[in-house]
Amino acid sequence: MMPAATTIFPVILTVSEADQRLSGRDKVKALSRLARSALMKSCEKSGLHLNSFPKNQKGVPLPVGGVHWSVTHKSDMVGGVASTSPVGMDLETIRPVSDALLAKVASEDEWKLVGGNRQNNFFRFWTAKEAVLKAVGKGMAGLSRCRVAAIADDTYMTLTYDETRWPVAHYWFDDHVAALTARHFSVSWIRY
Ligand SMILES: CC(C)(COP(=O)(O)OP(=O)(O)OC[C@H]1O[C@@H](n2cnc3c(N)ncnc32)[C@H](O)[C@@H]1OP(=O)(O)O)[C@@H](O)C(=O)NCCC(=O)NCCS
Repeated sequence: MMPAATTIFPVILTVSEADQRLSGRDKVKALSRLARSALMKSCEKSGLHLNSFPKNQKGVPLPVGGVHWSVTHKSDMVGGVASTSPVGMDLETIRPVSDALLAKVASEDEWKLVGGNRQNNFFRFWTAKEAVLKAVGKGMAGLSRCRVAAIADDTYMTLTYDETRWPVAHYWFDDHVAALTARHFSVSWIRY
């Protein structure tokens, strides 16, 4: 029998105009800091505690006291999430992409699952795969082992990484889409 689904609270924050104007290292630092603020808000909502954000030599976030975490930062939005099981979150701004990227994100078999316009679906696939690759701690190196297995509707799909199934939830807002994955969960998106 499946365990009862735990509610996960991914938090999305808007980057201030002043921080958006930064460049180089200053911007990376500001976005990273804000993503950790989102993560702390996720902790508060979930009743979880994190007092440090350690990563391994490859930059993969390490759990602290059984609390797993994931962050994502784009130039105008950031996100953070904490969970008692491995978790991955990704966020993208929807924009036109090249045919080469359409082919990179998914195989013909995976594209057949979704139908419709590939441009419109590109960032669903992209963010879903990024979220799973973060949850398994592989990053881009694991891309060829991560596949779209089934699509339920606009907000839920299932991916596999090798033989393991990862449900993914999407949240659409303005011209952005965010993806969240964990092994078994219900989701409550929070945007400030
Ligand atoms: C690094 C990667 C995990 C995500 O990168 P990204 O989408 O550019 O960046 P995001 O802002 O969403 O996420 C960055 C966070 O991911 C985390 N991260 C980095 N490497 C990671 C890894 N191997 N596993 C899990 N999490 C990782 C870090 O916490 C980082 O934030 P921090 O530096 O503030 O701690 C990786 O997938 C990558 O290099 N992607 C490049 C884009 C691409 O080609 N994607 C193809 C998808 S189809």
